[in-house]
Amino acid sequence: MQFKINKGKGLTGDVTLPGDKSISHRSIMCAALAEGKTIINGFLMGEDCLTTIDAFTNMGVKIEKFEDKVIVHGVGLYGLKKPVSELYLGNSGTSMRLMSGLLSGQNFSATLTGDKSLSIRPMRRVVDPLTLMGANILTGEEGTPPLSINPSRKLKGILYDLPVASAQVKSSIMFAALYSDTPVTIVEKTQTRNHTELMFKKFGIEVNSHTSGDVNQITVIPPKSYRGVEINIPSDFSSAAFFILAALITPNSNLTLKNIGLNPTRTALIDALLEMGANITQSNKRKEYEPYGDITVKTSKLKSIKLNPKIIPNLIDELPVLFIAASLADGFSIFNGLEELRTKESDRLKAMAESLSNLGVKFSQQKNGIKIKGLNQEIYEHNSNLPFQKASINSYGDHRIAMASAIACTRSGGQSYIENTQNVATSFPNFLDVCKKVGMEITT
Ligand code: S3P
Repeated sequence: MQFKINKGKGLTGDVTLPGDKSISHRSIMCAALAEGKTIINGFLMGEDCLTTIDAFTNMGVKIEKFEDKVIVHGVGLYGLKKPVSELYLGNSGTSMRLMSGLLSGQNFSATLTGDKSLSIRPMRRVVDPLTLMGANILTGEEGTPPLSINPSRKLKGILYDLPVASAQVKSSIMFAALYSDTPVTIVEKTQTRNHTELMFKKFGIEVNSHTSGDVNQITVIPPKSYRGVEINIPSDFSSAAFFILAALITPNSNLTLKNIGLNPTRTALIDALLEMGANITQSNKRKEYEPYGDITVKTSKLKSIKLNPKIIPNLIDELPVLFIAASLADGFSIFNGLEELRTKESDRLKAMAESLSNLGVKFSQQKNGIKIKGLNQEIYEHNSNLPFQKASINSYGDHRIAMASAIACTRSGGQSYIENTQNVATSFPNFLDVCKKVGMEITT
């Protein structure tokens, strides 16, 4: 699939975006293992989250889908059935890593597979701590999928210092902790997204979190059982990021994004952009189990940034967006400590370097860093002033590379193309409809 992109005009009005991907996955997993019914509103019907639903359906859980609502008939912690075939998880690293944890506690074997991209992603980061808990997991060569998870005796509690700042690893251990004979404690040196902690608490599972300085410690007390609940999922901040970028860099924009998840472990992009001089305000802030609210963005003249590597886990999925913003800022922006970017749906550092050079941006690359020279053009007053050159960009089948690059192309002179865009449907199935609604010309 390909996107064709023409020059954009100011983005105005209000827009509502689909549900949060991370929270949608966790809602299905917790609901499937609960006793009784869970109602999920605002669920993201993206391909990644649908693979999680399919996996649980294959293990005997009845799950009903409506427009953006899901009803899960939970089977309890010990009610899953052995899947009739292998569990295919498509492009979804979150499904594979989190499900490895909960499948480690079952009395049946399961095999987890994925598409070409997922099949080369590192899984030892979850297999190692799960093995310490007593899990019995075989990986493919190089510690990659497929994963064969076999029954083991009761899992045991561990104290685990996370060697990588990864919410997926933390959450995998937390899901295994539901089956442990004693509490499990995880220590992280930088706080990663805490959706699993908040979702567990929402379901009444006891989780104790304690932060001292930068160090965060989470203890899960294994429950005997827990009951289903009703959950509202806010819109995905990571999807909002593309429209925040679009409004910032397009003249005459004033756009409001409604009911966006504003969990501070996810929103460091806003902090970075504010430091760059962006005009972004938050309003209507509310909190259920997760905080959410509205974000208003106006066209802004941006300054360069030297990003503090400590906040990278809290904007990891928004780095492609931030690189585009930096390439229009005044001066040199510096990003270091980007090694995790290389292990995503694609090597995002390599893919974004290619994207930027196609757009005519100057940068220098280090092993795990990039220094971007802002185009420093007076682009903010005249729509006719287009900073990027027209481009033809390979997204390498990575949804976030495709969408960030597509937004950049709305500020280039002439028709641009993004190749390999089919996986936009994994996280943002109606991306093109939303683009159209806010006045952008992106078509297939
Ligand atoms: C996610 C955590 C992040 C993020 C991914 C979703 C999650 O991955 O990049 O898109 O839902 O826990 P890591 O934890 O591997 O950094």
